[in-house]
Amino acid sequence: MGHRYIGSKSKIVNNVVSKISELTPQNSTVTDLMCGTASVSVALREKGYNVIANDLMTYSYHHAITGLKFHKYPSFEKAVDFIDKLFNHDELDPFNISPYDKIINALSNIKPIKGYFWKEFSLDGNPKNTSKPRNYFSSHNAAKIDGIRAALSRLHSSACLTAPEYSLLQHDLLMATNDIANIAGTYGHHLAKLSGRAKDDIRLSPSKLLLKRDTENHKVYKGYAEDISKLISCDLCYIDPPYMKRQYAANYHVLETLARGDEPEATGVSGLRPWRDQYSNFCTKTKIRDSFRKIIDNMSCSRYLISYSEDGLLSMDNFIDLLTPYGDVYIDEFEHTRYRSNRSSLGQNLTEYLIHLETN
Ligand SMILES: C[S@@+](CC[C@H](N)C(=O)[O-])C[C@H]1O[C@@H](n2cnc3c(N)ncnc32)[C@H](O)[C@@H]1O
Repeated sequence: MGHRYIGSKSKIVNNVVSKISELTPQNSTVTDLMCGTASVSVALREKGYNVIANDLMTYSYHHAITGLKFHKYPSFEKAVDFIDKLFNHDELDPFNISPYDKIINALSNIKPIKGYFWKEFSLDGNPKNTSKPRNYFSSHNAAKIDGIRAALSRLHSSACLTAPEYSLLQHDLLMATNDIANIAGTYGHHLAKLSGRAKDDIRLSPSKLLLKRDTENHKVYKGYAEDISKLISCDLCYIDPPYMKRQYAANYHVLETLARGDEPEATGVSGLRPWRDQYSNFCTKTKIRDSFRKIIDNMSCSRYLISYSEDGLLSMDNFIDLLTPYGDVYIDEFEHTRYRSNRSSLGQNLTEYLIHLETN
């Protein structure tokens, strides 16, 4: 099980965190301004930092809450009726397992529904705006996802879940969905034929949570970095922007729909939701500089660390021109293995940069 996310720093998280450790001591406050899967946020928490996580996408919000906001496994106290009704005693011994395991089991036993995901995103579906089914999921998996979505929405609207419990279960559904999606890397397209793991049945599994009595030290936001930066005061801000033209909102639209729990109008061959409200300036060469300037002007912070890659829209010279007016700029580089979608013809290795700005 894992994230399939362009630009995820999970493989190089140690490089990033060890650079941050050189620049600011543990216990200081570090922002992960475009946190994505929250891999860096979680590693920072593990190291003893106070973390402020933010991203534009709703799924990232659920990932960050899951990684930062638990000090013990949740009790799911108000969902006991739901659990009692659906828990399968033949699969698990109810006396030896946690409430979290029980609710995962109960959700896994939910009845499939031929709902929005089945209709818009499955092999046997009949999408509203196009004649050809969109083959993102097997018919069984899409109906199962619809069943779980309906249960989560009922539990949420009847206040049977705390906010972190809701985010945790959304995170688990996102992870399970990623595992069986019939895609070559992103949700920009689905594959023509159901292949590989997409043929398996979807399986929800409980996450291994990082448990520490520090949850009050962390904050999670969801919004544009350019705006959220006004609210933030921190010792170091780590920025890991998109570095290519591909918009995350368009490439992960199915995950965003899961995370929001809504049923938007899906259009075209790929079934895109309306996504312009999550358009990122960092994917457009002419807009990136202004967005960086806004962040630095708005935030109460004097130290920045930016991840970027040799594939990126800006060169290191562009960064030096952009950042030098603010202070001193230092650049580290290292090699790592490129994230490649199945179809990519790009080479194996990639130079990653860590750009450090110390403002005057
Ligand atoms: C390279 S990914 C970050 C990966 C992350 N460090 C990880 O390890 O998963 C870039 C992220 O920037 C987010 N993003 C793009 N533009 C943004 C903006 N203007 N404000 C906030 N987040 C933005 C995207 O949603 C995406 O999650």
